[in-house]
Amino acid sequence: SGPLRTHAAARGKFIGFAAATNPLANEAAYRTIAQTEFSQITAENAMKWDSTEPSDNSWNFSGADQIVNFAVANNQQVHGHTLVWHQQTPGWVQGLGATAMRTAIQDHVSTLVGRYANNAAVVSWDVVNEVFNEDGTFRSSFWYNTLGQSYIADAFRWARAADPDARLCINDYNVEGINAKSTAMYNLVQSLRAQNVPVDCVGFQGHLATQYGFPSDLQQNMQRFAALGVQVRVTELDIRIQMPRSSAKDTTQATYYSNVINACNAVTACAGVTIWGFTDKYSWVPDTFPSEGAALIYDENYQQKPSYTAVHNAL
Ligand code: XIL
Repeated sequence: SGPLRTHAAARGKFIGFAAATNPLANEAAYRTIAQTEFSQITAENAMKWDSTEPSDNSWNFSGADQIVNFAVANNQQVHGHTLVWHQQTPGWVQGLGATAMRTAIQDHVSTLVGRYANNAAVVSWDVVNEVFNEDGTFRSSFWYNTLGQSYIADAFRWARAADPDARLCINDYNVEGINAKSTAMYNLVQSLRAQNVPVDCVGFQGHLATQYGFPSDLQQNMQRFAALGVQVRVTELDIRIQMPRSSAKDTTQATYYSNVINACNAVTACAGVTIWGFTDKYSWVPDTFPSEGAALIYDENYQQKPSYTAVHNAL
C-alpha cells in the first residue's frame, strides 16, 4: 500500500512521469494520480525548443511554468527536457550558419536554464538528446552538420554557467543494454569528463517493447557508466505491446517494468526511473508505432494495470 513515491523515497530514488500540459490543467483524475504517485516530473513537450522559443528570442514559458508550478505545489522535482535535440526545434534554428547557430544555442540554454536556476524544484536537465546513430557514429543532424561535435561540450558548459547546481545529463534511446550505441555514449562521456566538460548524468530513455526482448544487461550497463563517476537514470520508460492487450502480454510487460526498477535499485548511482506518461489515454506510442500501444501503468480509464503493481512491488 501507499503511493509509488513513498516507496521510491524510502530507497532514496525518485519515481517520475512525463506530463502533458493539457490533462494536467484540465483533468482531475490525471492531476490526482500525478501528484499522489510521483516525485519527479519531466515535461513531455513543454520545455522543448519549439514550445519555448518558437522564433528567435521570442519566448513562451506558459507550459513550462505550468509544470514547474504544479511540481512546486506538490513537493516534486522537475527534470528539464530538453535543450539541444534535432527534433521539435524550429526551422529558424536549423537553417543558421555556424556562428549564428552557436549563438542561438548559447542564448537558448542560458535563458531557459537561467529562468529556473533559482527554483529549487528544477534539479536537472537533458542538455543534449539523441546525438548518436545506432552504430555509434554521430547522427548527422543539423547541429552536427553545421558545428561538428563541439556543440555538445559547448551546450554543457553553457548550461553549467546558467545553473551551477543543476545536474546535467546526456540522454538517448537504445542505450539500455551494452551495444555499439551505448559504448559510443560511454566513450563520449569519458572523453568529455576528461576535458572537464560538466556531464553529470546519463539518461537511458527506456522505450522498450515486449516483442523485442528485455535488455538483460541493463544493470551491468548502468554499472559501467557509474564507474565513470556519473549518475544514471531511466528517463522515458514505456513498454509497448503489439495491440490488442491480453493478460499474457500484460504479464510480460509487468515483468519488464519490474526488471527496470530492480536494475535501478541495484545500482547506487541510479537516481530513479521516469515513466513516459502514466495512462494509456495519453501516450506517444500509438501515434508513433503503428498497431502498438498500451505501454504504460494505468489504462485509458485510469485503472491500475499489472504493470502498476509490478512497479509498486519492486519499489
Ligand atoms: C515525444 C512526445 O512524447 C510526443 O508527444 C511528441 O509528439 C514527440 O516527442 N524521445 C524523447 C522525447 O526524448 O522527447 C520524445 O517525446 C519521445 C522520444
